Amino acid sequence: MISPSPVVETRPLAAVVLAAGLGTRMRSARAKVLHELAGRPLLLHPLAALATLAPARVALVVGHQADAVREAAARAGLPSLESVVQAEQRGTGHAVACAVPVLDGFAGDVLILYGDVPLIRASTLAGLVAAHRDAGADLTLLTVRFEDPQGYGRILRDNEGRVVGIVEERDATPAERAITEINPGFYVFRSEILLPLLRRLRPDNAQGELYLTDAVRLTAETGRVHAVCSDRPSEVLGVNTRAELAKMEAMLRSEVIERWMAVGVTFEDPATAYVAPEVTIGADTVIGPNVTLRGATRIGKGCRLEGTAYVVDSTLADGVLLRFGCVLEGAEIGPEAIIGPFARLRPGTRLDEHVHIGNFVETKQAHLGARTKASHLTYLGDCEIGAQTNIGAGTITCNYDGFKKHRTRIGARVQIGSDTQLVAPVVVGDDAYVGAGTTVTRDVPDGALVVSRVPQRLVPGWMERRRQRANGAAAPAVATTPASAPHARKPPTPKRAARRTKARRRSGR
Ligand code: UD1
Ligand code: MG
Repeated sequence: MISPSPVVETRPLAAVVLAAGLGTRMRSARAKVLHELAGRPLLLHPLAALATLAPARVALVVGHQADAVREAAARAGLPSLESVVQAEQRGTGHAVACAVPVLDGFAGDVLILYGDVPLIRASTLAGLVAAHRDAGADLTLLTVRFEDPQGYGRILRDNEGRVVGIVEERDATPAERAITEINPGFYVFRSEILLPLLRRLRPDNAQGELYLTDAVRLTAETGRVHAVCSDRPSEVLGVNTRAELAKMEAMLRSEVIERWMAVGVTFEDPATAYVAPEVTIGADTVIGPNVTLRGATRIGKGCRLEGTAYVVDSTLADGVLLRFGCVLEGAEIGPEAIIGPFARLRPGTRLDEHVHIGNFVETKQAHLGARTKASHLTYLGDCEIGAQTNIGAGTITCNYDGFKKHRTRIGARVQIGSDTQLVAPVVVGDDAYVGAGTTVTRDVPDGALVVSRVPQRLVPGWMERRRQRANGAAAPAVATTPASAPHARKPPTPKRAARRTKARRRSGR
């Protein structure tokens, strides 16, 4: 392992990251560095490691799908990043030559890396730069030994063990192919030697490209090449095919899960749990099968995720129970809350402690106070709800009028009856009571009852008459209801009865 040693001489650091290729071996219309690993574009992985070194300048060489690649790179937190376009992909040496304008006037060390080698750690990069400075070398490169070196450039050494060059697999002799020390593609050059070297590259190889790797031979001819051999082969694996990407995903996934198991997290089925590297999980949390945790997700201590959940950029405080089949995106869940089964919590959802969200409930930009419950079939969007309120089944905040979104405010200890629509903007005060089936269109003061329903109509014997009509029988006399019966329909006036009979005859009923 490379351990960063004290920096003898502190020179400014610049970096060049190569990401212009399409990645033909991926057989994809999408640029290789945009394919995702652990939920993030490949390119973001090495850029994140690079960001911790805070280079003074960073040149990102883009080509295929340049805009999308730039956009992905912008998420890496590298303020000094500038992109340059390599219009035609004429090899890794040519790509570095395209970055020269960004290095104009720069004097120091230039770290070069490839965008398709994602697992590199920041400490390895820092160690390589430190080793280069310690050695006072013109060029320092990382090497590694692979049992199966297939696909990689092989490191050539002379009898004294000095690195004298790199030969690509396609150009290698059978004896060279047998070499197991390979080039993972991490180099630190003194800027003074790099620019003249790039001019000397020639496309005399199987691919007819300008190879950056030839710069190693050219440096060795007159200058000092220093090599640092890594003992962590897994972190320098390159991705060239979908099979390699899938292997890396699986490797990364099991590493992450083992790390969390080691600090006290239970996975009921590690083979189907997916936890992105940046996610954090508290001790004694139990994670069931088929759970995906992505992005800036933080899970507290003693939580239970029953299974089949998709959680992105969300926070679960301690003791949360996430029942089966939930989707959470950008949600913040308070302690001891119970969610699901089958709930969808969308961005801007904030639930305080002990909130219950039941099945088929969707929330978005919604804050629910402590111990509030929405147990069934409900949409809560753009709303603020106080503590200990009960939201009945089938409640809907009608937040969108076709042009704009409006907010609903519901106070504390409110009872919202089932099948209520709240037409926003609207406010329901504390301790109010909304009767089932109400459409709330105007504000409701604290402690008030509000009900809006079409009065119930009761027609006794209606079904029997309908059946008889359907069977072609003459309609019996209309039954009358005792006047005292609630909601009774009044007997029709003779005039109205005549009109009805006429209408019925006309329509053939
Ligand atoms: C390269 C190295 C090889 C090394 C391997 C490590 C060369 C010639 N070979 O081979 O020694 O073992 O990486 O993974 O450098 N790119 C450009 N412009 C180009 C060509 C490539 O920007 O014109 C970028 C690609 O987008 C990619 C990176 O450079 O991110 C490496 O290119 P790739 O074609 O994958 O090189 P390898 O064959 O893997
Ligand atoms: Mg490659």
